[in-house]
Amino acid sequence: MSVRDDCPGNAVNRPADDTRGRLYARVDLWPVCGSLAVLDEAFNAEWMAMSGAAPSTPSRSVVLVGLMGAGKSNIGRRLANRLHLPFVDADSEIEAAAGTTIEEIFERHGEAYFRDGERRVIARLLDGPVHVLATGGGAFMDAQTRARIRQRGISVWLRADIELLLARVARRDNRPLLKDGDRRAILTELIEKRHPIYAEADIIVDSIDGPPELTLSRVISELQRFRANEPPIVPDASTSRAAE
Ligand code: S3P
Repeated sequence: MSVRDDCPGNAVNRPADDTRGRLYARVDLWPVCGSLAVLDEAFNAEWMAMSGAAPSTPSRSVVLVGLMGAGKSNIGRRLANRLHLPFVDADSEIEAAAGTTIEEIFERHGEAYFRDGERRVIARLLDGPVHVLATGGGAFMDAQTRARIRQRGISVWLRADIELLLARVARRDNRPLLKDGDRRAILTELIEKRHPIYAEADIIVDSIDGPPELTLSRVISELQRFRANEPPIVPDASTSRAAE
C-alpha cells in the first residue's frame, strides 16, 4: 500500500458524493500525509497558475545550474514567465558574443578558451538587471563564477539522475563534451565530479521525468521558502544618511 492509499481525503477514500472535488485532497493531504502525491501536486501547480496566484518577483537573478539535460533552459524559460522576468540563456549569449557556435569555439580554440568566455559573459549578465539565467553545465564549476552567483543571484540546482539526463541529451548532438565516447560513462563521471559542487547551490530541486510544470512548481515553492528565510536587506549607512 502506498502512502497515498492511506490518506483520508485522497481520490481512493473520498466519498462518492463529495462535491468538493480535488481541492479537498489539496486541503487534507498536506497535514495528514506529509507527502504529496504527484497528481495532487500537478493539480496545485495548475491551480496556482490558473488562479493568478503569482509568486513575487525576486530582487536578485535566479540562476539555474546543473548538468546537461537537467532542463535548465526549459524550466528557466517557464520560471521567467511566471516571475515576470526576462529569461537569458548563457550559452546563447556566449554564442552571440563570439559570433559562432559553442561547438565551433570548442573545436577551434579548446575548452579553456570557452570557459574563459563563459566566465566573462556570466559576470556581465549578473551585473545587469534581474533576470532568470540558465547556465551551461560547467559554469558553476568555476570558483569565480560561483562566487559571483552567490553575490548577485540565487542559485538553483536542477538535479537529475543519469537515466533522465541520458534520455534528454539524446535529443541533441551538438554538445562538445558528449561527442567522443560513451555518453553514459561521460555523464557518470561528470555526476561524480560535479554533483558535490552543484550541492553548494542555494536551492536544490529534483528535475523530474514528467510535465515540466511539476518541476517548475517545486522550484517556485523552494524559491519562496528560501526568500522567506533570507535576512532582510539592511540599507548601508550612506543610503540611510542620504534619506534623512
Ligand atoms: C557544458 C554544457 C553545455 C555547454 C557546453 C559545456 C558542460 O550547456 O555550456 O557544451 O560543461 O557541461 P548545457 O548544460 O546547457 O547543455
